[in-house]
Amino acid sequence: MVKTLTIDLGDRSYPIHIGAGLLTASGLIDRHIAGRQVLVVTNDVVAPLYLDPVMASITAPDKASLVLPDGEAFKTLDTVNRIFDALLERRYSRNATLVALGGGVIGDIVGFAAACYQRGIPFVQVPTTLLAQVDSSVGGKTGVNHPLGKNMIGAFHQPRAVIADTATLDTLPDRELRAGVAEVIKYGLIRDAEFFHWLETNLDRLLQRDPAALAFAIERSCRNKAEVVSADEREVGLRAILNFGHTFGHAIETGCGYGKFLHGEAVAVGMCQAADLSARLGLLPAEDVARIVRLIERAGLPTVPPAELDSERFLRLMAVDKKNVDGRIRLILLEEIGRAALPQAVPVELLKATLDEYGRTVV
Ligand code: NAD
Ligand code: GLY
Repeated sequence: MVKTLTIDLGDRSYPIHIGAGLLTASGLIDRHIAGRQVLVVTNDVVAPLYLDPVMASITAPDKASLVLPDGEAFKTLDTVNRIFDALLERRYSRNATLVALGGGVIGDIVGFAAACYQRGIPFVQVPTTLLAQVDSSVGGKTGVNHPLGKNMIGAFHQPRAVIADTATLDTLPDRELRAGVAEVIKYGLIRDAEFFHWLETNLDRLLQRDPAALAFAIERSCRNKAEVVSADEREVGLRAILNFGHTFGHAIETGCGYGKFLHGEAVAVGMCQAADLSARLGLLPAEDVARIVRLIERAGLPTVPPAELDSERFLRLMAVDKKNVDGRIRLILLEEIGRAALPQAVPVELLKATLDEYGRTVV
């Protein structure tokens, strides 16, 4: 069964199709390719699993594929340039379509290449990780990392469609599944208390890959993301809540070297730190912080940062964040489970208290 949600953005609106077996049986990828030229971009882990069936399902006469090296460490401008090389070598024009087949790293790189090539060409997101299916493939944020900051180079560029084949999650390693669960928990925390309760009850089913539980969690997450993005595409206000835990998390990713902590793992730690800080500011009861940490722990995710990042280093890394204004760190905090506040500057001594506390609990 296919579930279809819509990102409502006027003439740039697009569908998110969710279901098992969509890569091949449905003909859906083909339906969202307008021109004759298609470049499917994937990586050397996903290609042996899914590239052949995807290529076979595309009927455009001038189709090709490009297989990039796997990993966050390759989410760079050099890699984007490899996509430009492939497009130019084949003389692909402005109505060529890029297809991003893979996790969030592939989706972000390919989306950025699509945003830039000849000032913008269509692309289709075919996410194959839980994290990409619930978050990164939806909403049009594209980009790459800079050695000094995560996702610092990028563009907003919406895909023509998102095609999430839940059957691809069968081959996903457990650690990657758990990283995706971190972003699922995020939606419960920032705007969906009922979903947070559901996760408290059904987390084990999710971790055991129960198809019905996965399908429900993916759809509910995408519904939350679709509502936020449809209301605030360019992150003028509300959309910032999707970054709950991410300022801490990005500091961990940049500070440890890209790829050491998975994005979802870093966000999991960041959500614990952001919850702790919310309590220090008197916004969130201590029992709720404990509930949040407990669920994240049960998901097999880390709840404390790596020992190598002391508070001073953390603060320096957190100073490079897209939510900051005039050099001041602004954070998303929780007012209760299921309700996040818009970004706010926080007293630096309270932020340091959280960082010091977490520095002490390092294992
Ligand atoms: P990833 O893309 O690195 O994928 C994780 C690993 O799983 C990789 O080794 C990948 O090759 C492999 N893989 C992918 N699909 C597989 C499958 N079906 N079976 C087996 N292996 C598979 O990581 P991710 O967690 O998907 O994405 C993280 C990235 O997403 C980060 O760079 C993060 O910044 C970005 N992100 C972007 C947004 C956005 O809005 N654009 C939102 C959240 C995260
Ligand atoms: N993952 C943050 C956003 O899409 O806005």
